[in-house]
Amino acid sequence: MSQNQTRAADVIRAAVLGATGYVGGELLRLLAAHPDVRVTHATSERRAGQRVGEVFPALGAAGDLTLEALNPERVRTQADLVLAALPHGASGPVVGALVEAGLPVIDLGADHRFPDPEVYAAAYGHHHPRPDLAAQAVYGLVEFARDRIAKASLVGVPGCYPTATLLALLPLLTRGLIDPADGVVVDAKSGISGAGREARTESLFAEVADSVRPYKVGAHRHQPEMAFHAEALSGRPVEIFFVPQVVPMSRGLLAAVYGRLAGGVAPDAEALRTQVAEVYANAPFVEVLPAGRWPETRWVDGTNRAVIGVGVDEATRRVVAMCAIDNLGKGAAGQAVQCLNLMRGLPETTGLPAVGTVA
Ligand SMILES: NC(=O)c1ccc[n+]([C@@H]2O[C@H](COP(=O)([O-])OP(=O)(O)OC[C@H]3O[C@@H](n4cnc5c(N)ncnc54)[C@H](OP(=O)(O)O)[C@@H]3O)[C@@H](O)[C@H]2O)c1
Repeated sequence: MSQNQTRAADVIRAAVLGATGYVGGELLRLLAAHPDVRVTHATSERRAGQRVGEVFPALGAAGDLTLEALNPERVRTQADLVLAALPHGASGPVVGALVEAGLPVIDLGADHRFPDPEVYAAAYGHHHPRPDLAAQAVYGLVEFARDRIAKASLVGVPGCYPTATLLALLPLLTRGLIDPADGVVVDAKSGISGAGREARTESLFAEVADSVRPYKVGAHRHQPEMAFHAEALSGRPVEIFFVPQVVPMSRGLLAAVYGRLAGGVAPDAEALRTQVAEVYANAPFVEVLPAGRWPETRWVDGTNRAVIGVGVDEATRRVVAMCAIDNLGKGAAGQAVQCLNLMRGLPETTGLPAVGTVA
């Protein structure tokens, strides 16, 4: 058998559910460049029957696939692995049926981010659609769960704000650099694609351009997700106050995490930076900047990278860690492909862009 035939036999047939959304579209874009994956099935309710290319002309040849209405039986026969980019609440029942049919599922919505259905219900205001599956899912924050993701049949990919926040916060907690009893404030800014592709007045150009809009201050659904997984992954409970803001850009997210230096830790930015960099020594997509430098969202546009800056104010002992990601990349589709690679025993970086645009 030639090398090409071996490759063809090994190709992973992937289904993308919710392929007309921003996350679904980004999955199609990334998977088009993945050497081991072929998207064989893509779903939409409102645009079933249309070609993907009609929805996303930017995808070129990768748009040559006809959208189908979601039918778990069709998905099961057409794919070996499923990526679900559906609204929360919609994915739970479908994902349950697919997992029971033996398909590995990577869910990019919120339905499988909480092992405790009570925490989900408190955050989302409705009962978990499949509480029996909630505990089975692995939280797909790759840098802190590689081994568990590799063995998982169901992964709940973290939200975009929690990804950037936890990547900045977890090293501070696990290394004992900040005092969890003091709590942390997360001030985060996101591009408008974070709100999805659904037409809404508040997402119109004239509403978003030339303005910064705080929203759901202290009341965003990602706040309990951050607090739950900060404790689960560090073993240290920490109160989080989250201030999300929409800024006038299409994609990109910058999270700034503020905490208080732990007692006995010297206010030395270089030493803090070294500790954080050690945590990510084997993380190909995470870059920790030299002390005194801060990340910008445009550095990570279109990539799966996360860039972190760390500093401390000697007078107030206030620590700040900032993380820039692309909300559709490391904050969603990129991280999902990273999970797929681990689940299939592929190098973590396979098919994922690590080089951004320069202007
Ligand atoms: N946007 C981000 O930055 C981001 C980051 C991380 C995670 N997420 C999560 O990823 C998921 C998708 O986000 P998005 O921004 O791509 O949303 P979106 O742009 O609104 O897309 C939603 C997709 O789901 C489909 N859909 C909607 N309701 C459905 C239903 N009841 N049954 C089946 N399909 C349905 C839509 O298809 P049609 O309308 O064509 O029928 C569309 O393809 C959400 O759970 C979101 O919270 C988003």
